Amino acid sequence: MKQILYASVNARTDGQPADVTGILEQSRHNNALDGITGLLWTDGERFLQVLEGGEEAVEACYARIRNDTRHRAIVTILERTVERREFGYWAMAHKTSDVLADVHDQRVRRMMASAAEEIRAPFLELVSAREAA
Ligand SMILES: Cc1cc2nc3c(=O)[nH]c(=O)nc-3n(C[C@H](O)[C@H](O)[C@H](O)COP(=O)(O)O)c2cc1C
Repeated sequence: MKQILYASVNARTDGQPADVTGILEQSRHNNALDGITGLLWTDGERFLQVLEGGEEAVEACYARIRNDTRHRAIVTILERTVERREFGYWAMAHKTSDVLADVHDQRVRRMMASAAEEIRAPFLELVSAREAA
């Protein structure tokens, strides 16, 4: 089973947030068909996404995502083989308390431990902002 963690930035230059609802709808539809699960964090400006599933499916999905002009500055943080899924379903972090999302936050924190500082810092900030709200 393949797991990918990447970070990216909203590509809009008009100051508007990304169309997160549209992205999530499309993701849930395709991922259900492809057996892909994971997690997408966003504040409308930055994205942090975990993809998990069969190797071919995840690689094909990530190839599509990398070509998507709705975001830019895509950086692969972690790409590895895992025994089993660590993120069982799609969730979207909101600035409200969510016990299940908190469990995922802990997992992402652990995964992020091996990421470069310039990637880790902004995203721990993103997760912390959500926790603090
Ligand atoms: C931040 C972000 C995350 C995305 N995540 C997924 C995803 O998990 N699964 C997916 O199929 N598409 C995802 N997409 C959309 C893909 O880039 C691509 O537009 C889509 O897979 C094309 O699907 P279609 O051929 O059904 O139109 C994401 C796009 C963005 C900008």
